[in-house]
Amino acid sequence: MDIAREIKRLKKEKNAAILAHYYVRPEVQEIADYVGDSFYLSKAAVGLREQTIVFCGVSFMGESAKILNPDKTVLMPDMTADCAMAHMADAELIRHVRDTYEDTAVVCYINSTARLKQLSDVCVTSANAVKIVKALPNKNIFFIPDRNLAHYVAGQIPEKHFIYNDGYCPVHEKMQLEEIRKVKASHPAAEILVHPECAESVRNVSDYIGSTSGIITYAGKSGSKEFIVCTENGVRYELEKNNPEKKFYFTKTEPVCLDMKLITLEKIKHVLESGENEVHVADELRKASVKPLERMLELAR
Ligand code: 13P
Ligand code: SF4
Repeated sequence: MDIAREIKRLKKEKNAAILAHYYVRPEVQEIADYVGDSFYLSKAAVGLREQTIVFCGVSFMGESAKILNPDKTVLMPDMTADCAMAHMADAELIRHVRDTYEDTAVVCYINSTARLKQLSDVCVTSANAVKIVKALPNKNIFFIPDRNLAHYVAGQIPEKHFIYNDGYCPVHEKMQLEEIRKVKASHPAAEILVHPECAESVRNVSDYIGSTSGIITYAGKSGSKEFIVCTENGVRYELEKNNPEKKFYFTKTEPVCLDMKLITLEKIKHVLESGENEVHVADELRKASVKPLERMLELAR
C-alpha cells in the first residue's frame, strides 16, 4: 500500500485529523485534512471531532493547538521543527516596557513560545493583527517578537504608539530587494505579493501585503496573470493548484523554511503508528497562555 493510503487508513483507525501549514511540502499538504495559514489552523484546531491532532508545522503551532485543546492528543511529526522567531523576545524586556509605559498592551504574534504568550495580553496572526490591535483600548502597543510585522501593523494604525522588539523571521528577512527587482524586470506585468514578515524595503515595492492565505486569495481574485511571490515557497503548491492559468515566480534565492520542510509523510505515518512526539504543556503555563489565544479568537470574530 502506498504511504498516502496507509496514512489515510491510520487516520481512521486512530481517530486523527491532520492539520498542515502552507509552508510544508506539497505531498504533506496533499494528504492533510486542513491546510491553511496560522490563523485558519488555530481556528480549525478548536472543535475538531477527532481525538488526535497531527500538526504538520513548527512547534509553536502544535503547542498552541494543545493549549487550546487540552483534552486532545497533539502529535508533531518532527519535534525538532521549530520557528527561530518564536524565541526572539525577552521576559525582562516585557516587564521593563510594562513598567515604563502606562496603558500598554503586549501583543504577541502567534509565532512565539507559550512562555512568551503567557506574558502577553493578546495573540495575533499576520491575518488578523491589524483588526485586533485596532480593537484594543490601549494607547501603547508592545509588539513581540516580529519587528517587521510590527512596523507593518503600526503603519495601518497611526493613532497608536508602538514599541518595537528586535525579532524577525530569518526566511522572510533574507529576501533581497535586488532579486525581486530582477524578477520584475523579466516580468514587468507581474504583481508583487508580500508577506508582512518581510523587511520594509520589500514591503515598499509590493502590490499586495498579507498573510499566506491573504496572498492565495488575492492571487485567485486578481485579474493579473503573473505574480512575484515574496513568502516561503511552500505556498506555490496551493497557488498553482488553484490557478493553473496563472504564473508564479519566486526570487532566485527561494525563501525556504527548513524547519517546515522537516515534516515528511514517513514521519506522519510514524507518529500515527507509534503515538510518539506528543505535545505536553504544563498546566500552569497552559492556563496562563490560553488567555491571549482565546482573546485573539474572540476579537478576530
Ligand atoms: P501566516 O501563516 O500567518 O501567513 O504566517 C506565516 C508564517 O511564518 C508561519 O510560520
Ligand atoms: Fe518561523 Fe519564518 Fe519558518 Fe514561519 S517561515 S516558521 S516565521 S522561521
